[in-house]
Order: sequence, then C-alpha cells, then structure tokens
Amino acid sequence: MIVDNFVFILNIIVATMRHVTLWIRTIILTRKQREQSFIKGVLSMEDGLDFTMDYYDGLKTMRPVNNSSKLKLLEIGGGVGRLFANYPDNCQCYALNCNRLLEPYFRQNISKYPTLEFMDYIVGDVEDMYHIGDNSMDAVIWCSVLCSANSPTKALKEVMRVLKPGGHIYFSEHCLYPDDSVKHLVLQYFQRSMNGMQRVIGNGCQLTRKSWVDIERSGFRDLTIIHVVRDDPRAVLFNSWIFGHGVKPQ
Ligand SMILES: C[S@@+](CC[C@H](N)C(=O)[O-])C[C@H]1O[C@@H](n2cnc3c(N)ncnc32)[C@H](O)[C@@H]1O
Repeated sequence: MIVDNFVFILNIIVATMRHVTLWIRTIILTRKQREQSFIKGVLSMEDGLDFTMDYYDGLKTMRPVNNSSKLKLLEIGGGVGRLFANYPDNCQCYALNCNRLLEPYFRQNISKYPTLEFMDYIVGDVEDMYHIGDNSMDAVIWCSVLCSANSPTKALKEVMRVLKPGGHIYFSEHCLYPDDSVKHLVLQYFQRSMNGMQRVIGNGCQLTRKSWVDIERSGFRDLTIIHVVRDDPRAVLFNSWIFGHGVKPQ
C-alpha cells in the first residue's frame, strides 16, 4: 500500500517534470520547428496508440447502409492512418484533418492497403465540414479528436449531418479520469493543472474533456461507451480512455 502510493506520487512528479519540459521546449521553438515537432509528436503518438486498434474491430465487418454498392468511410483527424488495418475491404475512404502537413504520411500509408479506394484528403475543420454532403457517409470514425475541437458539440453535430441515417460511428478519446475515487480525484486535479500547458504542447488538445457526456448528448442510438483506465506509468495524464460505437437514427 505504502509502496503503491509512493509509486503513484512518483509517477505524477515525473509526468509533471516531463510536461513542463515539453511546454518550455514548445514555447521557445520557432514556428517551423514547432511544425516539425508536431509531426514528430503525432508520428510517435501513432505507435503509442496501438492499444486502441482492438476497439475498432466491428468496423472491419461493417456493411454499407441500404446495401449501396461501396461503403463510404470518413476518418476525421486521421493523422497518418493508423486505423487503416481496421477499415472494411473495398471501402471508399475520405480523410479530414485541419493539418495539411500530415497528408503525405496519410497518402503514403494508405498505398500499402490496395483494397482501399482512397478518395480525398480534405484539409478542414471537423466543426464545419462544408466540403462533405449531408447523409453521404456510411461510417465516420476517429481517435482522439474531440479532445482538440473547440466545440465537441459542434463537431458531433457535423458528424451526425454527414452520416447517412443508419450510418455508424466508431471512436476513441482520452478523457478526464471518470469517477470520484480519491485516486481519480487526485489525477483529475493533476489533469486540470496541466491542461493549459497541454493546449500549447498538443495544438489545442485538452486533458479535461468528458467526451462521453458530449457523445451521450449527441443523439446517436444503440450507443456503447466503454471506459478504460490504463496503467501506463509514462502516460499518467492520458490513461483514461473511452471507446465506443453508435448509429445515426433513421
Ligand atoms: C491527437 S491527434 C490523433 C491522431 C490520430 N487520430 C490517431 O489515431 O493516431 C489529433 C488529430 O486531430 C486533428 N485535429 C485536431 N483538431 C481538429 C479539427 N478541429 N478538425 C480536424 N482535425 C483536427 C489533428 O491535426 C491531429 O491529426
């Protein structure tokens, strides 16, 4: 018990030091260096996010809504396309990301999946996807994007708009620690204290979002949301996750 508490506090201290160092590094970088550092960060994050893949299993066997010929899938905030392995075969894929610097990585990676038909990489904001028609997508998927949106509610409204009735969402998000146990209250305090720095380091990414609440309020039916608290000592700020699936009402 004493050892556990000691390790718990030590992890928080180490994470704080790492976060402050990252923040100082970020604020002293030039714009160009910041861009390069962002790309490096996203690429390294891709490896660290491999555990999320299992939660997109249902996507692989998804059928097009109304048996339309090809399944149209939109990934928002798709980074470098870590989730391609879980895309259904023969689907038509669209990506939307506010950052155009990731496009070459996305394109290069998708070329390794010959059964996927790559349609477009759209540079745009998930809160205003005016480039994409109403009721046009069979699936919209994402990993860690609501954490960075200015308004998750607006983003989810847009997701609902572009999906066909009966279309599916698959998502994962890191969040605020979910319950009121003493341990989680301490971790929530820690997340709140580091949130300002995280916004600078992570291009607007926040540690304190309760994205499950936003998703529950967004009107999807048959919603499943699984909370997972991981035990990675190097990621104390990011160990609280939700994974889920929902359907747009007909
Ligand atoms: C934390 S990274 C997640 C990386 C990636 N989804 C993955 O699975 O590995 C967040 C991504 O969402 C993108 N993003 C953040 N806010 C966005 C917004 N408002 N509209 C579109 N993309 C956004 C960022 O450019 C970044 O690529």
